[in-house]
Amino acid sequence: MLRVAVIGTQGQLARSLAEIAAGDVTVTCIGRPQLDLAQPETVAPVLADLPVDLVVNAAAYTAVDRAERESDLAFRINCDGAAAVAAVCARRGLPLVHVSTDYVFDGRKAGAWREDDLCNPQGVYGASKLAGEQAVLAALPAAVILRTAWVHSPFGSNFVRTMLRLGAERDRLRVVADQQGSPTYAPDLAAAILVLARKLAAGGETGVFHLAGAGSTTWHGLAVEIMAAAGRRIPVDAITTADYPTPAQRPANSVLDTAKIASAYGIRLPPWQDGVRRCVARLLA
Ligand SMILES: NC(=O)c1ccc[n+]([C@@H]2O[C@H](COP(=O)([O-])OP(=O)(O)OC[C@H]3O[C@@H](n4cnc5c(N)ncnc54)[C@H](OP(=O)(O)O)[C@@H]3O)[C@@H](O)[C@H]2O)c1
Repeated sequence: MLRVAVIGTQGQLARSLAEIAAGDVTVTCIGRPQLDLAQPETVAPVLADLPVDLVVNAAAYTAVDRAERESDLAFRINCDGAAAVAAVCARRGLPLVHVSTDYVFDGRKAGAWREDDLCNPQGVYGASKLAGEQAVLAALPAAVILRTAWVHSPFGSNFVRTMLRLGAERDRLRVVADQQGSPTYAPDLAAAILVLARKLAAGGETGVFHLAGAGSTTWHGLAVEIMAAAGRRIPVDAITTADYPTPAQRPANSVLDTAKIASAYGIRLPPWQDGVRRCVARLLA
């Protein structure tokens, strides 16, 4: 039996983890208002005596553009709150999987990013997540930091749901074609995290790992795939980042190299197109 506590209740990953738990793994999701990462002092009272074997922090301030004007809140949740979770895990000797992001990189590499590549976030969100990684590792050097990317799911707000809505409202779409990444289906990520959790609890390797859907594409390529999966014949125009200015700057290439987790844990996610097809099928069902 493995009892997993997940920080976050309504998020894409938290809901996917709750949904996927089965067999000898139980998942208990904990979140606001009892545990509010924006008030780090609320963390210890909730986690200190909870009967669990391992913690997954799937909660974060994820509003990439809004973070540019809510820097304090983003840092409090993604750094101070995350550090408070790690501190309780350190005190209790609990393994921790802390989820982080591809946006810790600046995007200026030609190939896929490795775990030991230099981080240089381009916006407040990425900077707060990087500060969170560092604070978590300072409090609990044996934590697992799991960086993922471009998460979509049947839950919450994400690019797949936005494109399906816009595709139903408009007769053509314009989507950025000069940002490259690896779309990741949250239920696949959740299943992989539970495999990782079992092996980690049994003494698996710790440190920073990358995990995302296999392969890569652009937001434009992703939109084309979504429309095809939905059976919608709608033109998708390729535009540039300069044509679609946003408050936060995003990395041009944030494709993650996932070889390390494949070798340490035997974990690989399906091709990103496969996740998109299952996500769209479920949303349209
Ligand atoms: N979404 C992406 O494209 C993406 C890409 C790369 C990495 N990631 C990382 O993947 C992880 C999961 O992301 P996601 O897509 O599942 O995020 P999400 O759907 O935006 O959900 C965010 C989660 O964080 C929780 N949360 C936010 N503020 C909180 C606070 N003050 N106290 C406690 N909980 C709080 C939310 O709580 P409630 O349950 O109360 O709503 C929710 O469960 C995050 O670490 C994120 O940085 C995401």
